[in-house]
Amino acid sequence: MKQQDVILCNNLTNELSAALKGGSYDKLFILTDTHTHQLCLPILDKVSELSQATKIVIEAEDVHKTLEALSNVWMALSTQGATRHSLMINLGGGMVTDLGGFAAATFKRGIDYINIPTTLLAMVDAAVGGKTGINFNGLKNEIGAFAPAISVWLETEFLRTLDRENFFSGYAEMIKHGLISNNQNWIELLQFETDEIDYVTLKDLVGTSVAVKERIVIEDPKEHGIRKALNLGHTIGHAFESLALAQNRPVLHGYAVAWGLVPELYLSHIKAGFPKDKMRQTIQFIKDNYGVFTFDCKNYEQLYELMLHDKKNCAQTINFTLLKDIGEICINQTADKDTIFETLDFYRECMGC
Ligand code: GLY
Repeated sequence: MKQQDVILCNNLTNELSAALKGGSYDKLFILTDTHTHQLCLPILDKVSELSQATKIVIEAEDVHKTLEALSNVWMALSTQGATRHSLMINLGGGMVTDLGGFAAATFKRGIDYINIPTTLLAMVDAAVGGKTGINFNGLKNEIGAFAPAISVWLETEFLRTLDRENFFSGYAEMIKHGLISNNQNWIELLQFETDEIDYVTLKDLVGTSVAVKERIVIEDPKEHGIRKALNLGHTIGHAFESLALAQNRPVLHGYAVAWGLVPELYLSHIKAGFPKDKMRQTIQFIKDNYGVFTFDCKNYEQLYELMLHDKKNCAQTINFTLLKDIGEICINQTADKDTIFETLDFYRECMGC
C-alpha cells in the first residue's frame, strides 16, 4: 500500500495552490456534502488551480454514506469526464472522506485522491490511514477498501466553527491516541482547557495525535497486528453506538468511543494491570465532558451480541485491545461473557446509571 503524506497546514489555500501548480492531472473534482459545500468550499475558491474543478455534492450525515450516494458520485465522475489521470479532492468530515475515498479507489480501478478533513474526528482519525467505505445492509463500513489518499491536508482553522459535540467527538480519538502513546501526551490532553480553546495549542495537539496514528498505520497498514491498537475503546464503544442507533437515540461516534473506554480501561486494569489512578483520571475526564450513556442490565445480552458481530473478531471470540499502562499495548485480548458483564456493571456504577 502506498504511504500518504499528512500535512499540517499553516495556510491551506497557499500550500494547496503550490502543490497543484503545474500538476499533471487532466481534471479535478471536489466532493463536498451539503454542509461543507456551504461552509468550507468558499475557502477553496481562493485556489486558482481549482477554478475549473467540477463540484460534486452529496447529502450530509452518516445515514447518507450509502450505495446510492456512492453511485451518484461514480455517475458524476463518469458523465463529467473523469479519467484515470483525474484527481478527486474530498472536503468534509469522515463521511465525505470515507465515501469519496472509496469512490476514488474504485472508479476506473482507482484514481488519485486527497483528503481535506474539516472536523476534528476526520483530522485525527477518519481521513488518515486509508480506510474507505460505505455502510451497507444496516452495517457500518460493511463495504470498503484500504486505499490511502495521496495526501491529507489538515487545516485546523476549520475547527474554530466546530460545535461542542463534534469537538468532543474528535477529542475522544485524541484521548485514545494519548492512551496508546505516552504519559506526556495523555496528561496534556486531560489538562487542555476545553472550555476556552486555545487554537494554537490545539493545532499542536492535533499534530501529535495524527502522528500517533500515522506511525501505527505505516507499521501495519492493513490491520494485521499493531493497527489494532487504534481499536482501544471501540469494541464496547461500537456496541454502545449500535445499541443507541437501535433505540433511536443515535450518538456521535467519538462519544461512543469515550464511553467504551470506561469498561475497556477497567478490563485493562483487571486483566493487564493498567494503573487504577490513571483509569480513574481518564474516566473522570469522560464523565465531566461526555455525560453518561444510559442502559441497564436488561441490555447486557444485546450489547454482548453486538460485540460478537463486530468485524474485528475472529471466529466466536470478542477481540479487545487492552493496556498494561499508557503506551503499553496488548492486542488480541479476549474476555468471557461474565467478565464483559462485569465491565458493564463497572461502567454503570462509576458513571452513575
Ligand atoms: N479508526 C481506526 C483505524 O483507522 O484503524
